Amino acid sequence: QKGRFAHFMIKEAFDQPESVVNTMRGRVNFNDYRVVLGGLRSQLANIRRSRRIIFSACGTSFHSCVAVKSIFAELTEMPISVELSSSFLDEQLPIFRDDVCIFVSQSGETKDTLLALEYCKERGALCVGVTNTVGSTISRETHCGVHINAGPEISVASTKAYSSQFIALTMIALQLSDDNMQKVARRTEIINGLYRLSDDLRKTLELEPQIKQVAEQLKTARNLIVIGRGYQSATCLEGALKIKEVTYIHAEGILAGELKHGPLALIEASMPIILIMPKDRHYSDSENALKQITARMGKPIVIASAEDTSPLFNDLQTLRVPQTVDALQPLVNIVPLQLLSYYLAVARGIDPDSPRNLAKSVTTA
Ligand code: UD1
Ligand code: M6R
Repeated sequence: QKGRFAHFMIKEAFDQPESVVNTMRGRVNFNDYRVVLGGLRSQLANIRRSRRIIFSACGTSFHSCVAVKSIFAELTEMPISVELSSSFLDEQLPIFRDDVCIFVSQSGETKDTLLALEYCKERGALCVGVTNTVGSTISRETHCGVHINAGPEISVASTKAYSSQFIALTMIALQLSDDNMQKVARRTEIINGLYRLSDDLRKTLELEPQIKQVAEQLKTARNLIVIGRGYQSATCLEGALKIKEVTYIHAEGILAGELKHGPLALIEASMPIILIMPKDRHYSDSENALKQITARMGKPIVIASAEDTSPLFNDLQTLRVPQTVDALQPLVNIVPLQLLSYYLAVARGIDPDSPRNLAKSVTTA
C-alpha cells in the first residue's frame, strides 16, 4: 500500500499531483471554463440567496477553510466567516434559517464538527458537507455536499486531504460565481491555474533532497517559526501544525502583519524561521517583514518563487517553488512544509504515521 515509500505520510504527500486531479475530475471543464459539482446542483439557488456562509472544521480541515476564505469572498461577494467547530457550541453562535454552513472534514466523523452540524441544523440553516469519506456521518447528515475524492488518507497527519479540500472549496466558489460576468477574467485565471496545478506540485516535490538537508540542519531545534501573510496565512498555521504534530518541535505560525505587535521579540540569530514570500500583492509587505527579521540577526529560510531574483535572498537559504495564481499559491507552498515536517520527524527518530497522543479520527468532543 505504501509502494516505494517508508511511511503513509510521505506517500500521501507524493500522491498530491494525482489526488488533486481526482478532486477535479468530471467537475472542472477546462475547455469551457465551467465548474459543475453534482452534489450542489439542487441547492445552488438557495446557497446564492443565503445571507452569509459560515465554514466550520477542526485542525487541518479548519486551515483549508482559512486558506480559501478570501478567494471565496472575492468570487461570491458574500460575507464569509470561518469558525473552529470546537468553539462553535462554546460561543453559542447565532445561526439563522438563511445561513449556509459548510462543514469540512476528511474523516466525516469528527465529533466537534458533528456537534456544530447538529447545532446549525436545529436552527434551520442549509448544511453542506465537504468530506473525503463517502458514507461518513457528516456526509450523510448534511443536506448536500461535495466528496473531495482524494482517496483514503491513512497517515494521522493530513496532507492530500488538505489540498483536495482547498480545491473542492475553490470549486464551490467558482460554481457559485458563474452567473457573475464581472468575475469571468478572475475565474478563467484560476481555472487555468488549476489546470497547471498537478505539474506545479510535481515540480515542488522535486525539492525533496534539499528539504532533507534542511531537516538535518533543523533536527535539534526546540522552536520553529513559520511566517507569511495574505494568502499564505493559512499556510503558516498549517505548516506549524504539521511540524508540531509529527516532530514535537514547538512550532508557531505567525502572520507577518502581526510581527511588530509582539512576535518580533522572539527574533534573534538562533531562532529557526521559515518565511513564505510569494510574488503576490503582499510582496512589498513581506519584504518589510524580511528586513525586520534580518535587522534582528534572524536568518530565515525563505520559500520563494522560482523566478524571484531579489538581492534580499543573497545570504539566505531559499526553497524555490513554481509560481501560480495568487489564490492557488498556498497549495504549492504547503508542500515544502509537509515534506519538512516529515523529514524532521524521521531525522528525530519519530514514526510520522503514529505521532504520540493523536488519533486519525477524533470521535470524542
Ligand atoms: C456522483 C457519484 C460519483 C459519480 C458521479 C457521476 C457518489 C458518492 N458519487 O459524484 O461516483 O461518478 O456522481 O455523475 O456516488 N453529499 C452530502 N454531503 C457531503 C458530501 C456529499 O450530502 O459531505 C451528497 C451530495 O450532495 C450528493 C452525493 O452526496 O448528493 C454525492 O456527492 P459527490 O460524490 O460529491 O457527487 P458527484 O461528484 O456528483
Ligand atoms: O477528519 P477531520 O478532517 O475532521 O479531522 C480534523 C482534524 O482532527 C485533523 O485535520 C487533524 O488536525 C490532523 N491530524 C492534522 O494533520
